[in-house]
Amino acid sequence: MTLAEVVPFPRVPQPDGSAAVLCGLGTWLPPRVVPNAEISRRLDTSDDWIRARTGIRQRHVVEPGMCTSDLAVEAGMRALKSADTDHVDAVVLATTTPDRPCPATAPDVAHRIGLDRVAAFDVNAVCTGFLYGMASGAGLIAAGVAERVLVIGADTFSTITDPDCRATAAIFGDGAGAVVLRAGSPHELGALGPFDLGSDGADADLIMVPAGGSRRRTPASDAERYFTMAGKAVFRKAIFQMAGSAQSVLRKAGLRLRDVDKFVIHQANARILNGVADMLGQPAGKFVRNIEQVGNTAAASVPLAMSSACESGELRAGQQVLLGAFGGGLTWGSTVLRWPAIEIL
Ligand code: COA
Repeated sequence: MTLAEVVPFPRVPQPDGSAAVLCGLGTWLPPRVVPNAEISRRLDTSDDWIRARTGIRQRHVVEPGMCTSDLAVEAGMRALKSADTDHVDAVVLATTTPDRPCPATAPDVAHRIGLDRVAAFDVNAVCTGFLYGMASGAGLIAAGVAERVLVIGADTFSTITDPDCRATAAIFGDGAGAVVLRAGSPHELGALGPFDLGSDGADADLIMVPAGGSRRRTPASDAERYFTMAGKAVFRKAIFQMAGSAQSVLRKAGLRLRDVDKFVIHQANARILNGVADMLGQPAGKFVRNIEQVGNTAAASVPLAMSSACESGELRAGQQVLLGAFGGGLTWGSTVLRWPAIEIL
């Protein structure tokens, strides 16, 4: 099934200086690599099954004692260096695995990067977190609250993955990616276009950690402390919502599907990427893939995919790019940009 070709709206002009321009990108992965074989020695699964059903060969995982802020600091510092700056006015950290339930992790990350006294807050939109984080950063710039914003997506899902659950253990990996957004003109390379963001709380239970919040503070069993998902239902909804959101953002941007050179969307499962490509009637080759190497890294997924596509030469300055994601909440989001000429660190 494919969706109809997008009929664009005329683009609404934006005043110069109010657009958020992506001007730096940095990533960091914890050094420890867990290949599928290591999981299949422990659980009732196999390298063949994981590769065939998800496209994943390996993932990076934190060592005990390493937490989300450690990854976020490394990626954040690299993004600042890539943007050739040591100052931003705000730090937005997208994460579902904060160091502690309270306070937010972003102020600690800002402090450790040397960004004392700047605005800093967390955003939790699970795997859509980086899109929500970029939209928040772009909003601070458009409102004149900030001239530069560091947006970080960092997650350590290995810390909330049930060691006995073969479905989640096979999928998730840890990592971090960050971008610097600066105020600029909507006509520049790197200027973020409109955003499409959405949610559907009616399906909140499809992806969740049941206990630990105000609803159920103390877990009734060990399993309730861990991340759970209804794999099949999530699979179908991920395809449908990412395809729909891509269409919505293109319509808002005055672009057509055929104008997009590269889709950089959440790396949840290689078959989900194929499903979105089919639904949009686009060649699978337009969809950037790094899931084989890193698995599903939640809020870090989109910046890690951008980075590996730049490294491989697949993503080049001037190309029309669509960024998209889907995650717990449920949540989804997309934006567009022409890829800027930046050094990736
Ligand atoms: N190894 C072997 N078998 C596995 C397995 C694994 N790692 N994980 C699940 N299975 C089993 C299931 O238990 C099920 O067994 P059953 O039929 O005896 O109950 C069987 O495989 C088929 O399950 P199904 O859910 O149909 O498999 P699938 O092909 O859909 O793949 C997922 C399972 C989890 C990989 C897939 O549903 C998925 O990727 N869902 C989306 C997950 C996601 O993206 N989550 C984050 C959202 S941002």
